[in-house]
Amino acid sequence: MSDKILVIGATGNVGRPTVRALRARGQRVKAASRDGRAFDGAEGVSFDYNSPTTFGTALEGVNRVFVLLPAGSVDPLATAMPFIEDAVSRGAKVVFHSVFGVEADNTNPYRQIETALEGSGNPFVILRPNWFADNFHTSWKDAIKQGQIAVPAGDGKSSFIDVRDIADVAANVLASAAFDGQSCNLTGPEAISYDEAAAVLSEVLGHAVRYTPVDDAAFIDLLMNEGVPEDYAEFLATIYYPVRQGWTWMVTSEVERITGRPPHSFRTYALDHAADFVG
Ligand SMILES: NC(=O)c1ccc[n+]([C@@H]2O[C@H](COP(=O)([O-])OP(=O)(O)OC[C@H]3O[C@@H](n4cnc5c(N)ncnc54)[C@H](OP(=O)(O)O)[C@@H]3O)[C@@H](O)[C@H]2O)c1
Repeated sequence: MSDKILVIGATGNVGRPTVRALRARGQRVKAASRDGRAFDGAEGVSFDYNSPTTFGTALEGVNRVFVLLPAGSVDPLATAMPFIEDAVSRGAKVVFHSVFGVEADNTNPYRQIETALEGSGNPFVILRPNWFADNFHTSWKDAIKQGQIAVPAGDGKSSFIDVRDIADVAANVLASAAFDGQSCNLTGPEAISYDEAAAVLSEVLGHAVRYTPVDDAAFIDLLMNEGVPEDYAEFLATIYYPVRQGWTWMVTSEVERITGRPPHSFRTYALDHAADFVG
């Protein structure tokens, strides 16, 4: 019987807590990654978007799929669609991890993936999380250790979301049919600026963290000096435009609607991850 859930990106920031949350709900899970390792009670399976020969084994015995693109995907549509089409043709429900705000732009590749799912005839759920709080202890960890966050966000505010909240939402919409056909804009409980985030981190981590707004060119230089390829550095600079425009400030109640509890605040995120900023 096909009643397993395939989690793509299972070893990543969102995928790993999603696997745990599904296992905690008693679901049978196949954790997909390129090396196919098993963990946290999930079966491991090798999967690579760039190797269509891995799709069949990954989808065997599966009736629901969590689809997440790796960070740094330069062509999301070309990367994801062949796999999504395969999953849909086998009748699977697809839960797609999209990006906050893309519904405003039909030319956005994430929106085009969403549109394909909406027209697929299969059950689907679209999750659109805002900026992750967790970027602070992953992408910006080294800079924060040196006391500085330098991004082209101006004084824009974002309702940063803790990936634990995305994972709990993902697990609930995968485990139940109650949310099928819905698109959910996921945020934390408050919108804060990078200046305010730096003040919280200073207090929680016990050393000064300053926010320095930079322009796109300076940001691209900073990233390239850290070894980020130029095209990806340019892409990363563009995604701060919506922040400067004030388009990431919105706060929704979707996490509470779907999980029955409020999302974690930025302060709680920082307190719970204080040890991850060290070392
Ligand atoms: N950061 C944010 O603020 C933010 C906000 C909204 C949306 N998003 C979206 O969130 C996604 C990133 O999520 P994340 O932070 O959890 O990612 P992540 O930590 O970078 O994890 C990426 C996952 O993808 C897997 N992977 C890498 N290359 C692959 C390939 N060729 N084929 C199959 N799997 C591959 C990795 O597994 P292995 O390496 O083990 O194979 C890993 O499990 C992106 O789509 C991004 O647009 C991010």
